[in-house]
Amino acid sequence: MRRRSSNTGCSADISQASHEKRLRETPWIPPPSRSETRLGCTASGDRIETTMRLLVIENAAELVTPIGRSALCGHDMAKLRFVKNGAVLCYDDEILAVGTTSEIEKKLAECTPDALDVERINAEGKTILPGYVDPHTHFIFGGYRQDEFQMRLRGATYMEIMEAGGGIAATNRATREATEEQLYETGLRRLDRMLDLGITTVEGKTGYGENTETEDKMLTVMERLDRDHPVDIVRTYMGAHSVPPAFKGRTCDYIDYLIAEGLPMAKGRADFCDVFTETGVFELDESERLLLAARECGFKLKMHADEIVPLGGAGLAAKLRATSADHLLKASDEDLFAMRDAGVVATLLPCTAFSLREPYARGRFMIDNGLAVALGTDLNPGSCYTQSIPLMTALATIYMEMTIEETITALTLNAAAAIDRADTIGSLEPGKKADIIILDCPDHRHLSYHFAMNLVETVVKSGAVVRRT
Ligand code: NIG
Ligand code: FE
Repeated sequence: MRRRSSNTGCSADISQASHEKRLRETPWIPPPSRSETRLGCTASGDRIETTMRLLVIENAAELVTPIGRSALCGHDMAKLRFVKNGAVLCYDDEILAVGTTSEIEKKLAECTPDALDVERINAEGKTILPGYVDPHTHFIFGGYRQDEFQMRLRGATYMEIMEAGGGIAATNRATREATEEQLYETGLRRLDRMLDLGITTVEGKTGYGENTETEDKMLTVMERLDRDHPVDIVRTYMGAHSVPPAFKGRTCDYIDYLIAEGLPMAKGRADFCDVFTETGVFELDESERLLLAARECGFKLKMHADEIVPLGGAGLAAKLRATSADHLLKASDEDLFAMRDAGVVATLLPCTAFSLREPYARGRFMIDNGLAVALGTDLNPGSCYTQSIPLMTALATIYMEMTIEETITALTLNAAAAIDRADTIGSLEPGKKADIIILDCPDHRHLSYHFAMNLVETVVKSGAVVRRT
């Protein structure tokens, strides 16, 4: 159990009223100072000799969470823990206990001599869930491509625009020209919107660089944002997002360049290496060569697989035992079964299919066949400019035939597994990080029923309230 450090970044004399006012007025604020007390014991019975912070969220109509420290597969995705009159007790930035309000009150009384010294949130009539995890975004980029969006609505395809020099190449130019400060500012605003929607951890990719210098800039921006903003950022190096004009017709040379320069630059700064495996972008053999080199360098692996044509990317992800394979709109049955057998999480991105007007990935089929399915937004300036968890939930439940229970697992525990964080986030369990959202609805089914609406009322990140509406 971590102890509270002396530097919590907050001042001790902020009154509750002024804290509430700041909560309403600022996009996000540093953690409030909570009353400090000495506990008699922890959950394991240890005495604690230090000051600490306690938060109780109680009286919830329903508390809902998947359980576990790894992805749930197939029909296990629907097996959630439901607690009526639910409550959760947080110690500093971790969850100490989850149960009914009376169970938590009892635990609290056992632990602290003065329960009044605890910060309390009354969640009466509301639903408590783990914070959402978005395991696939490209949220750092320069410029916008609203013109292409209009072209696509008039019938141009994503690949036609890309082949004509637009698409990712257009964002590459704008990202190269943007200063680090500009990318930081726009990134900050995008993270604010994520927090509004209950996203407490996000994966972010490089890939609009075309050269190591710009990729380095993207990583630096994500590192700074991770330090400065409450949303945790898991970084992915994606030098293999498009083939730059300088390497046109020489994709092999570009892979050599990424292996020689890109991977060493990103080593130790990004957890994952990702590649856009697609006909006309990176073929299977090119993708495999890069991913093997990345693994050798210590990266975990991800793939954009079988998004536009059925190339076999999902099969390669299985062969390489990647952490996740993403998109999978055109993945074959055989490759999906190989992914299941290799323990690769299927990260589905329905907002992209919606935006591209493509048929959705076969979420129902994958779950019925035992795969672990996660959901991500794919926020990017081209194929999918949205952070909308509510839209994604609607698409998953209405069009992909996933139940709301499966969808909740896909947005939390399985999304955490897709970025290899299921041991610390993605569910409400003792010892996990206190990333918690409170929804303004009496039970979890409202998430699909009251569709495409943001029901998030309060966001608790690392044990501190960072949003309250
Ligand atoms: O996941 N498919 C490749 N990459 C992104 C799109 C990036 C872009 O168009 O800027 C995706 O859809
Ligand atoms: Fe993507």
